Amino acid sequence: MHPLTRRAFIQIGAGSVAAGAAGKINLLEPAALWGAGRMVAASDRVRFASIGTGTRGCELLQASLAVPGIECVAVCDLYDSRHEAAQEAVQKQVPATRKYREILDRKDVDAVIVAVADHQHRRVVVDACAAGKDVYCEKPMSHTIEDGFAMVDAVRKGNRIMQVGSQRVSSIVYQKAREMYAAGALGDVFYIEGSSNRNSASGAWVYPIPSDASEQTIDWNTFLEGAPQRPFDAARFFRWRCFADYGEGLAGDLFVHLLSGIHFISGINEVAARAQSSGGLFRWKDGRDFPDLIETVYDYPKFRVSLCCNLNNEGGEPIKFHGTKGTMEINGQTLAFTPQDGSPKPEAYSTKGWPARLRNQYLAQWSAEHPPTAPLDYQPIEAEIFTAPLGYSDVSAHQANFFDAVRTRKAVVENEEFGNHAAIGCHLANYAYFKNKIATWDADARAIRG
Ligand SMILES: NC(=O)c1ccc[n+]([C@@H]2O[C@H](COP(=O)([O-])OP(=O)(O)OC[C@H]3O[C@@H](n4cnc5c(N)ncnc54)[C@H](O)[C@@H]3O)[C@@H](O)[C@H]2O)c1
Repeated sequence: MHPLTRRAFIQIGAGSVAAGAAGKINLLEPAALWGAGRMVAASDRVRFASIGTGTRGCELLQASLAVPGIECVAVCDLYDSRHEAAQEAVQKQVPATRKYREILDRKDVDAVIVAVADHQHRRVVVDACAAGKDVYCEKPMSHTIEDGFAMVDAVRKGNRIMQVGSQRVSSIVYQKAREMYAAGALGDVFYIEGSSNRNSASGAWVYPIPSDASEQTIDWNTFLEGAPQRPFDAARFFRWRCFADYGEGLAGDLFVHLLSGIHFISGINEVAARAQSSGGLFRWKDGRDFPDLIETVYDYPKFRVSLCCNLNNEGGEPIKFHGTKGTMEINGQTLAFTPQDGSPKPEAYSTKGWPARLRNQYLAQWSAEHPPTAPLDYQPIEAEIFTAPLGYSDVSAHQANFFDAVRTRKAVVENEEFGNHAAIGCHLANYAYFKNKIATWDADARAIRG
């Protein structure tokens, strides 16, 4: 970690919130990735294939180019033009297929990246584990509670490594936040809030439909597996997040990142005991099943968490921890810590209603009971800002963490249990919203009660 001048900090454009904040600025230093700066022997290389090479699948393939010691050997998608997009992303003419089982049958594939629509996660992950492949599966891990537990069981039965794809938990910024939280820098934290805010058609998942999209270029029947039958509908294929048959709306898409980050930083790995939601569909009335604004309050044993996603205002994705000794706010690649002075002070407010005689007596007694700290013992706590270097990618870091685990069989940072818990938090939010009830998590029954 290096101190950074304010001018350099503003030049690297880190964190709009923190840019105006006072305090010492530190540049965080990413750990070197395994194999960086040297040739990795073919025998040490991890070979992987990508199943689902849409928007995220291609992003992951591009990010994988920065991870040393791995090699993409095949790609798979239901839409033919995405074979071409995947080959462009990975800069290699790897074999491409519509059928993921062909990928799982390959002996040269150690691991798969699964970036298919959410309702297909379970099928692909369970089959991959049964075929002896390690799995990086995109967030949210599950489409339903049952899907999540089926995947946990499949990973354990197959003795596989699974990494769930909320990449923030591999971020050096989140690692710093976790370190500060664990060291008690914030004091006691009873309230955490997070939000995701967007104000564009793209942000609201109204993605354009490519000109060659048709039943000839897309395997629509396979896309519908696990969902109700219906005639070909390109809007449903490309904007699946809007529909409950395939996605989970804002909770599954965005709460999952906030919850994963909050669980990671606070060091918990559990489902909230209960959740209450409010919100509405105010603007993006295009036939979607989900609201464009949702707020959920979660009860965890040691604190409360308040989340909000709004598709009607551009406001970033801040997470804020409110502690008795300070406030920590993460926004993008920047963390700002602002201490609060919780040291004992003589009461100055309510004693305004006392006569001077009693007030003076109280102040004298207070001073006698609280001798001043010797000047050399006094250690002021500074406001501090931590930021990642320009170009830092938590996506590559998250992938590197997975591929290292494939190689070494060490634990990943976001395993199937962690991913399942975060996804259940999303299902709690939707249950409370749609049923207009307080959603309670029954861990023994693996069910939501309302
Ligand atoms: N971690 C993140 O920040 C992040 C960002 C975006 C998306 N995601 C997640 O990534 C996943 C994919 O999202 P996307 O935006 O790329 O969606 P997308 O619609 O752009 O791509 C999904 C692709 O999956 C393919 N697919 C579906 N079922 C398949 C199957 N059985 N076999 C082979 N291919 C199949 C589809 O053909 C499609 O091309 C989702 O789970 C999403 O939540 C994560």
